[in-house]
Amino acid sequence: MDLEYFVEPVFKIDFLKIKCNDWNNKKTNLKTTMDQFAEIGRKEYFYSNRDSCTLDHNSLSLLIPKEIELLEKAYGKINITSVWSASYGLGQYHPPHNHGAEGYAAILYLDYLPDHSPTIYMQPWNDDMGKSVLFKPPVAEGDIVVAPKFITHYTEPSKMQEAKRIIGFDFLIHKKVK
Ligand SMILES: [Fe+2]
Repeated sequence: MDLEYFVEPVFKIDFLKIKCNDWNNKKTNLKTTMDQFAEIGRKEYFYSNRDSCTLDHNSLSLLIPKEIELLEKAYGKINITSVWSASYGLGQYHPPHNHGAEGYAAILYLDYLPDHSPTIYMQPWNDDMGKSVLFKPPVAEGDIVVAPKFITHYTEPSKMQEAKRIIGFDFLIHKKVK
């Protein structure tokens, strides 16, 4: 009798992508709102208002209501815990980092030209040849990409004179009451 064997993927990590609707209006409103909070940082890295931006769950829900609704369809009730923007000029980049153990990290591509490059995510384990596995999602301006917060991610030095700008927001899933 032939021996039987089974191979199946056991662990998986879901990425979610949403295309914002009514993007031109949303972009104007998002930029006007975000411009209230100056982005600061180091020339060799990037500029961000992560420490000063006071937008919260409710204020972001007013700016992108349909998209938050969709997130809640996908994840159940969510609680956005921080919101910020970040800009990357020529040569600027974000070194590898993660956002913590619990919940999800979203990136909304606010100013993004076709030659900009997206945030790159690292699989938390090597492949069976010991190599790192990277995921570089195809994105366009107005896209929102969501990944678990624990995934290490980074950006390559920008090759573009025009700044790339993103809005980041982290959220937790409401605990289900049994
Ligand atoms: Fe990040």
